[in-house]
Parts: sequence; structure tokens; C-alpha cells
Amino acid sequence: MAPLPDVQVLLGVSGGIAAYKAADLVRRLRERGCAVRVVMTAAATAFVSPLTFQALSGHPVGTGLLDPAAEAGMGHIELARWADLVLMAPATADLIARLAAGLADDLPTTLVLATSAPLYLAPAMNQQMWRHPATQENLARLRGRGVRILGPAQGSQACGDLGPGRMLEPTQIVEALLADRSAAGAETGTDPRSAPGPGPLAGVRALVTAGPTREPLDPVRYLGNRSSGRMGYAVAAALAGLGAVVTLVSGPTALPTPAGVARIDVETAAEMHAAVLGRVGAADLFVAAAAVADYRPAAPVAQKIKKADTQLIVHLVRNPDILAAVAALPDPPFTVGFAAETERVEEQARTKLLAKGLCMIAANQVGAEQGGFERDENALIVLWADGRRDFPMMPKTRLAGELAQLIAERYVASP
Ligand code: CTP
Repeated sequence: MAPLPDVQVLLGVSGGIAAYKAADLVRRLRERGCAVRVVMTAAATAFVSPLTFQALSGHPVGTGLLDPAAEAGMGHIELARWADLVLMAPATADLIARLAAGLADDLPTTLVLATSAPLYLAPAMNQQMWRHPATQENLARLRGRGVRILGPAQGSQACGDLGPGRMLEPTQIVEALLADRSAAGAETGTDPRSAPGPGPLAGVRALVTAGPTREPLDPVRYLGNRSSGRMGYAVAAALAGLGAVVTLVSGPTALPTPAGVARIDVETAAEMHAAVLGRVGAADLFVAAAAVADYRPAAPVAQKIKKADTQLIVHLVRNPDILAAVAALPDPPFTVGFAAETERVEEQARTKLLAKGLCMIAANQVGAEQGGFERDENALIVLWADGRRDFPMMPKTRLAGELAQLIAERYVASP
């Protein structure tokens, strides 16, 4: 397992049943060589004793903002400066709301405002609370500020419900931190642990979107599509294999994160838009492989829609085009788009290449007999301003490797 030596982690624990897993998280972080200091919300102390965290971290645990004894030791401003990264695990819906609002009404939230270190949240809550538009809006706001959201996982919950909201396992949180730090470190070029590997894209910072988006209709239903995310994940892995430092912004998929890739999970097109635009300034290369919903329900409702009339009319409104928005930036990265067409593939793809102002477009034919969604194989026609290359039907992982090679060639040749 790769180490995180000497990284100073400030762990904030908030009041949810997953707080017991935070104890194991401290052990896992220390196993990797991190120094860990723990602060807790008042509610968290009802679940796990501060003494547990003190014993595991080897340091006193902060639980209050106005504690003269704690302030006489490492005071809160000193603690905020000490941290290389701040991790809130579990991050409850209440903590997420307070962070989104910028409140500083207890020790963990105050430290978040007082630190310049990157902030990671590992949400844990009931699935209904996770799906609530208020929580999703709060998360979108935080993502827009560059906060990294790790998880949550799907599955059975302590309350008996089934769905998204379980905190990631401590080992998964540590893996996600490691992957994200190696990406962020190479972005700034300051972290020797993230020295990029050899390859034509050594040190190049790539941002990739993948998977479908889900556009909520009500708390239990969404509009989605059949994208599995396989092509985008394979491209992200292939770019990393060529030496790039890759951040993958992913819609909901069942796929594991490729090795060495930092993954940011999103659900809706609006969240993907915010996650991409918040990071693209630090990217040299942008590959939009996600199947982003072009439309979303105009007004998702807070309560489950009940069947009543024989018809239900849902009004949809346009989502932002993430790829076009990136290509239209004043100083855009090398931008690669995808196009799925049922007919006149080359002609329509070339129109999109020009209309969106892309550097390259990878087009595939979709339809009954073709590759595309939910298939292991695909064929591509790749176009750029003055060239094209055809890739015949082959497994998506191999195709992604060949496409990544071509992207690297064109990127290196670009002005
Ligand atoms: N894309 C995006 N944001 C959107 C829609 C699409 O970033 N809101 C990106 C996709 O990731 C893909 C490309 O744009 O790289 C697909 O473009 P689009 O014009 O939506 O393609 P089609 O779905 O093929 O277009 P249309 O529905 O008009 O045929």
C-alpha cells in the first residue's frame, strides 16, 4: 500500500452512527504514516467518546470552541494552520449544510473557515436525507468551492433503509485521499510523492468526465440514460498509463476507480458542470466522455409523485453543455469531445467539432447493430480540424488505449 508519509490530517467527526468507523479511519491513516488530530462536534461525542480518538491519534481531542484548556495547548487557529488536509468523516447532512452556509458555530466548522488546506467530506446519512434537494444543493455549492466529496456508498443503512448514504469504508476513504492528493500534488508540482511517471503525457493534468447523469423528478425517481461509464473510465486509465495526472468526474456507475486516478462523484448535469468548471482551470487536457443529460425536469418535487391522472406531463429545461462551456473558456485546455450518432456519423461529428470549438471529437455510431452504450466493444471515427483516424470495432479498453495515444500525439503537436 502506498504511504502518505508526514501528511498532517485534521479529522472532523460529526454526529452520525458512522462515527464509530472514524475510529478505524484514524488507525488506517496512521498506518500510512499520517499524523492525525481529531476534532468532534458535540453530537459526535454522543456516539463515540473523545477518549477513543485520543488513544488512537495520540493527541488530545478538540470538542469545543471555547475551551480554555484546549486553547492553551494547540489553539484552533494553530490547528487550522497545522493541517495539510481537513477531512470530515462522517459528514452529516447538518454539518454539510453548516459548511455550505459558511457557519462557524462549533470547532469543526470554525477550523474549516480558518484553514487554507483542502477539504474532503465523507458524507453519511439516511438515503432520503442524501437525496433531499437541500442536501444536494449544499453539496453542489461545496463542490463549486473545490471541496472534494468522497462517496457515499450505496447499500443497507443502520436505519433499515436501502440506498445511497453509507459512509465509505475507512480503507476506501484513505485510497480516495491518496489518489486525489497525488493528482492535486502534481497539479501544483510541489509534492515529490506525486512525481508523474514516464510517458508522452508525463506531468500533463487531465480532467475526464464519464458515466451518465441522473436528473431528479422527485426524491425516488430520476431521468437517466444507459451509459455504463466504461469508455470514460478506460480513457482515464489509459491517460494515467501515459503519465498524465488524471481527475475523473463521474456520474453514477458501478465501476471501480482506475489506479492512480482521483475520482469525484456527481449525480446531476449541474453538479458535473460545477465540478468540471471548478477544476478545469488547472487542467491541460479535457476529455468529455460522460453521457450528460441534455435536459432536466424543470421543477423536481420534494415529495414522491403519486399516480393520479392517466397522463403526467413533465416539463424539461436545458442543461448547460459542459463540453461547449470548457471549449469556450478564454484559455481552454486541449478539449476532446464524444458524439454518438445514429446516421451520417462523420458529417454530424464534424459539425459538432466546429460548433463547439473542439480540438478533437471521437464519434461512434449507435443503434441496434452497433457498439455504444452497455457494450464491451466499440468503433470510433476521430476527427480534428485537418485530419481523421478510424478505429475499427474492438474491446473498449483497447480502443481507449489507442484513443489516448492519439490524444497524446495531437496534444503534443498542438501549439
Ligand atoms: N456534453 C456535455 N454536456 C452536455 C451534453 C453533452 O459535456 N450537457 C458532452 C458529452 O460529454 C460529449 C458531447 O458533449 O462529449 C456530446 O455532445 P452532444 O452535442 O450532446 O452530443 P449528442 O448527444 O451526440 O448531441 P445531440 O443530442 O444534439 O445529437
